[in-house]
Amino acid sequence: LMSSMEGGFIKKIVYYEETDSTNIRARKLAEEGAPDGTLVVTDFQNAGRGRRGRMWVSPSGTGIFMSLILRPDILPSSASMLTLVAALAVYDGIKETTGLETVIKWPNDIVAEGKKLCGILTEMSAELEGIHYVVTGIGINANTTDFPEEIRATATSLALELGHPVCRAAVINGVMCAFEEYYGRYRETLDMSLLKELYNQKLVNAEREVKVLAPGGDYTGISHGINDAGELIVELPDGSIREINSGEVSV
Ligand code: BTN
Repeated sequence: LMSSMEGGFIKKIVYYEETDSTNIRARKLAEEGAPDGTLVVTDFQNAGRGRRGRMWVSPSGTGIFMSLILRPDILPSSASMLTLVAALAVYDGIKETTGLETVIKWPNDIVAEGKKLCGILTEMSAELEGIHYVVTGIGINANTTDFPEEIRATATSLALELGHPVCRAAVINGVMCAFEEYYGRYRETLDMSLLKELYNQKLVNAEREVKVLAPGGDYTGISHGINDAGELIVELPDGSIREINSGEVSV
């Protein structure tokens, strides 16, 4: 893995046999000055974290648990777009290395047959004027065959979908190659304008009714895909349009 990837966009790969969470490790390394393009990978997380304070169960020998340190020159408000860039890269990397066709559920899940295959957790260290670094954590259910009871009905893995185990290093390599390409396109404009069409093609919740879980109260509408800022365009029953930010709401 190291020899095939280091030298391109990935500057350095840090591997742990076991760690608390690759997002936590990546933050520590970033605080110590690790460069843009540092990838942290582990076989086993004993404190894997999901969005909204949830746990990400991460047993040894099964999943892909990795976090990428990025240092783009962007405003904090733009950082959530990196989740969308990563989602496209995961879609592509999986397709290229395993042939499996998946869909993206805005903003940060990759889904196969209606079940979750991958989650992405983007965190950052920032001031109002700019970011210090962004950590994009990617968890892919690769060779998982047994999930905890609570998620058994809603989770799946590459192995379950394909009927055979996959080489995790190959999938990581595929995802990072795709990330390099999409991140490059993102950096040309610092928004989703060059990636929006592709993202919307892969989006499972485009032109469908979505339920928006907003702090001021939940509502439903029809999603029309993302705009240049990576926000989901939602049309309400009264015809009005809302553009919702992944940091603020969930669908
Ligand atoms: C979600 O809730 O859908 C996001 C899950 C993100 C899990 C990944 S696994 C690698 C990285 N380290 C963590 O602790 N979380 C992310």
